[in-house]
Amino acid sequence: MSSAEYNALHILHVLSVLVMGATVFYAAAGAPETRKKALMWSGIAGVLALLAGVRMWQALYQFSGGWAVVKLVCWLGLSAFVGLAYKRREKARLWIGLTVVLAAVAVTMVYTRPF
Ligand code: HEM
Repeated sequence: MSSAEYNALHILHVLSVLVMGATVFYAAAGAPETRKKALMWSGIAGVLALLAGVRMWQALYQFSGGWAVVKLVCWLGLSAFVGLAYKRREKARLWIGLTVVLAAVAVTMVYTRPF
């Protein structure tokens, strides 16, 4: 992988996961009519984060490392929270808390790569 692609994928990946988290925070307080747009941006960010992540996993690690599988599970959770935050507004604190926890787990996985 060229250094340009390496940098572009990292920037795209990190930016996309930031947007994924931001949309959950928005969804926890946004008016019901903002649901479609929030779901759209969360979906776009989710696909970009996944594509960039899988491409880096393939190119840098040849799909080895259980830590990346844990990140996939974190990504799956984050992807679900925007819809849930609009549908189950009374549990907004839970979706926000889980977003922080899953993001923390994913970041810990990539920086420590324990397995
Ligand atoms: C919960 C969602 C996720 C978060 C918060 C997250 C966070 C991050 C961060 C902050 C980095 C940058 C590390 C650095 O450059 O120092 C990174 C890199 C990376 N992520 Fe993710 N990520 C997530 C989901 C995923 C998914 C689903 C995959 C695919 C399996 C993935 C695979 C990777 C890979 C392969 C790298 C590059 C590691 C390296 O440069 O050695 N990530 N991630």
